[in-house]
Amino acid sequence: MRLDRYLANAGVGTRQEVKKLIRKGLVMVNDTLVTLADTAIDLDKDHVYVGDQEIIYEEYVYVLLHKPEGYLSATEDRHDKTVMELIEGYEHRELHIVGRLDKDTTGFLLLTDDGQFTHHLTSPKHHIGKRYRVTLNSTFALNDLEKLMKPISMDGELTLPSEASMLEEKVVLLTIYEGKHHQVKRMFERIGYEVTQLHREAIGEIELGSLMKGEYRPLTKEEVKKLKNVS
Ligand code: URA
Repeated sequence: MRLDRYLANAGVGTRQEVKKLIRKGLVMVNDTLVTLADTAIDLDKDHVYVGDQEIIYEEYVYVLLHKPEGYLSATEDRHDKTVMELIEGYEHRELHIVGRLDKDTTGFLLLTDDGQFTHHLTSPKHHIGKRYRVTLNSTFALNDLEKLMKPISMDGELTLPSEASMLEEKVVLLTIYEGKHHQVKRMFERIGYEVTQLHREAIGEIELGSLMKGEYRPLTKEEVKKLKNVS
């Protein structure tokens, strides 16, 4: 990869800005000062420095956000706030959202610029569990759990079986294995409940954990691997 592209992709600056840095003699590759923007970088071997700071290039980025209510899961919108407004430092990457949440839903939301990863995670062929904590308008009847777990007809096909348990009088934990539009709210509506609060706690083995509303962090390499390996 060309040196100027490497630096621009790593967020050091625009292509023009990094070319200037290189011309000024501020960039080292391994222990050699380089002044040519088209210097070839071997991603497996070379180390690139601007001043004394090593610049690490990542082919893709994966960000886990605790989505607050009131934000759209969209990259831009003319009327509403979007989750993109909560995330700083990724302006040089073309992030998109992996599996949207409704405006009033909170919790686990992933953003990435890895299209293949998104396809893997959102394809119904790969049965990745999404766990929701669902708060209802009325007391949940324990014998409705069975109805919730069985496949039901939605958008002209049967849903995959899901897992459910009752946590409190009006709170149910539900894991679904696909992501149809408003799926959780519609599942509860079918059995006579209205969802008053919806919160996604986990996708696959990855938990939202202690991130506070509006906070975000990069996924670790191990977490990315775990999500890629679910089949
Ligand atoms: N199901 C819903 O109904 N809404 C969400 O935001 C996510 C899943």
